[in-house]
Amino acid sequence: MQGGTRKKFVQLARCANTLMAFDITLRMFRYRPGQAAHFETYAVTVPDAANVLDAIEQVWDKHDRDLMFRHACHHASCGTCAVRVNGREVLPCIAPVKNYLDGAKALTIEPLRNFSMVGDLLVDVAPLLQRQETAGLVITRPVENHLDGKPIASAQGLDPESVETVPFNRFEDCIECGICLSACPTMAASTKFFGPAGLAALKSQLDKTTDPTERARLLDLADDEQGVWRCHSAWECTETCPQNVRPAEAIMALRQAILARKFGFGK
Ligand code: SF4
Ligand code: FES
Repeated sequence: MQGGTRKKFVQLARCANTLMAFDITLRMFRYRPGQAAHFETYAVTVPDAANVLDAIEQVWDKHDRDLMFRHACHHASCGTCAVRVNGREVLPCIAPVKNYLDGAKALTIEPLRNFSMVGDLLVDVAPLLQRQETAGLVITRPVENHLDGKPIASAQGLDPESVETVPFNRFEDCIECGICLSACPTMAASTKFFGPAGLAALKSQLDKTTDPTERARLLDLADDEQGVWRCHSAWECTETCPQNVRPAEAIMALRQAILARKFGFGK
């Protein structure tokens, strides 16, 4: 293909791509405290490459500015946007609309299960965050550390030129999205259950410490009727987790560590 023809072809292909769009219907869960929960349907048009969060934002933009939903990063990092789409927990910011389109072209959007409802798609994630903190995960650090564990000096008030550049490191995989708690059948039966994300956090903290007192504290938290022994091994948490944290495997490993402590084998 000649250079000019090829350029025109690429431009046309790009143009056709941006023009492709879907007319879809969103059946959205609506709720306000003191009022009956119900569904409302909205018709929106989204581009071919849209994710479900784009469609939800269209509803907010074109139909109802009172719609309550949460999002921040749009790329599966902040964990705030989690909802259920057609009955399954997902991060809508990375869930392509076209993956859900059947003949009816309708998507049902609902909040996560097993949390208190705040309004529409918003749930109260405080119990999840509290358990992460109980497990020893620091949700907000006053200062980040170098890879060798030494604190990085705050850049505030310093000449940017003098601030040392440090390699970026991901400290934890869990983004506290709540998806595993929503998918967990044990969580549905008992809100006191420490939960898959919390138990995965316990295991992660256990792996990081050799301090016998802290290890005993973590194992005591896990070795409880609302800890690892409450889990019925449905494996829904591992199945649905968008970050590959594998909470079910962490629960099984904690059981092994508890039995090893009790019967004096292993480490
Ligand atoms: S373990 Fe996975 S599903 Fe559960 S809160 Fe963390 S990232 Fe979300
Ligand atoms: S918007 Fe941040 S994870 Fe979806």
